[in-house]
Amino acid sequence: MDRFRVVGGARLAGEVRLAGAKNSVLKLMAAALLAHGVTVLHQVPDIADVAIMAELLRRLGCTVEHDPRTASLRVDVPERPGHQADYDLVRLMRASICVLGPLVARCGVAEVARPGGDAIGSRPLDLHVDGLVRLGASVDTEHGFIVAKAPDGLRGAPVWLDFPSVGATENIMMAAVLAHGTTVIDNAAREPEIVDLADMLTAMGAQVHGAGTSTIEVSGVERLSPVEHTVVPDRIIAGTWAYAAAATQGDIRVRNARPEHLEIALDKLVTAGAAVERTEDGFRVVMDTRPAAVDVVTLPFPGFPTDLQPMVLALNAVAEGAAMVTENVYEARFMFVDELLRLGADIRTDGHHAVVRGRPRLSGAPVRATDIRAGAALVVAGLVAEGVTVVSDAFHVDRGYPGFDAQLRALGADVTREPDPVAFPS
Ligand code: UD1
Repeated sequence: MDRFRVVGGARLAGEVRLAGAKNSVLKLMAAALLAHGVTVLHQVPDIADVAIMAELLRRLGCTVEHDPRTASLRVDVPERPGHQADYDLVRLMRASICVLGPLVARCGVAEVARPGGDAIGSRPLDLHVDGLVRLGASVDTEHGFIVAKAPDGLRGAPVWLDFPSVGATENIMMAAVLAHGTTVIDNAAREPEIVDLADMLTAMGAQVHGAGTSTIEVSGVERLSPVEHTVVPDRIIAGTWAYAAAATQGDIRVRNARPEHLEIALDKLVTAGAAVERTEDGFRVVMDTRPAAVDVVTLPFPGFPTDLQPMVLALNAVAEGAAMVTENVYEARFMFVDELLRLGADIRTDGHHAVVRGRPRLSGAPVRATDIRAGAALVVAGLVAEGVTVVSDAFHVDRGYPGFDAQLRALGADVTREPDPVAFPS
């Protein structure tokens, strides 16, 4: 169990280069299950969640090799993969659920442990399940497993999502590519990671149209072939650096970034007083005054990403003025606000609204990362706090941010990783 020790007062300056997106690579690894043979992914981030997904694929009979030096990952999928994902892995990473669609499509049966509770709120799977049922699968919960069966194959069908769920859209897409007939997913999620997945599936021989819009049409094919694919850059990490630059009144150039995936988030920084410049391979954020507080409302893409909401709270906590942040995607994503309060932030929450009154500076204290994004935001909050902030449960951050502390040091911050002497094994 590690923790981060953050000495406040740094102005982040320099450049960072993005790796591929966690939220894409995990689904691309699952998509590899759809074809027999060797899939190769490039620009794979060296994060704990990739290691967990690699282990899950190994238990399904795949051979997986990840070379962090070349950022490539090779998955060799057998003719007949296994079909069970156990709770010990699913409880570590709920995105494991994304093997459900590909496994039922490929094997006619899938048993995936049902993930339990989550620190950012209830995360039901009804849309995943309803979608597979629409495609003709029988789905039940048995002994803690979601068991999906379609022994005679899936059948294309219209699917309407009550909410544009990223995971449900992905699972249904991956199930539909091998179904008989055509599936139309309405009110589909439009996130760039959906487009990345559709691009890989198309290269594998699938017929997918409309990814990136609210209506995705998938015509099933007989079989798919393995491919090589480069993972889309991580827009949430790009946004993390952008907000960290603004909060610390710094200057960060983010390379290998796609600013078009972050339009609203970057525009908010301009409102806060930053200069945001598009560069040849990304963007640069420069802030030379105290930021102005900005109102933010989280929504599915292309709205403001919920995964950057903790960074907005950290920025507003040291901004001039007051702002309202509204969380529309996760019911309990303000839970980490209590940790920011420990740093002296002035934040009041009421339901899915948070009112933040900026302070000139926070005050360093021991705090605890409650999830990946909250952890990153607390480290950044520590940079704008007086004195030392210790962020425990660093493993949350390691799940999604490759080399976070090393990158912060390269940008001039005094951030170190140390073993947590009081951590109990969980
Ligand atoms: C993905 C991302 C996560 C991001 C989220 C929203 C991954 C690994 N994670 O999560 O970082 O915060 O998108 O951008 O890609 N919902 C239901 N029923 C369902 C499915 C979802 O009610 O069957 C609800 C959830 O409770 C939540 C909302 O829909 O309130 C959004 O969830 P969803 O888009 O599915 O997020 P994930 O795919 O889990």
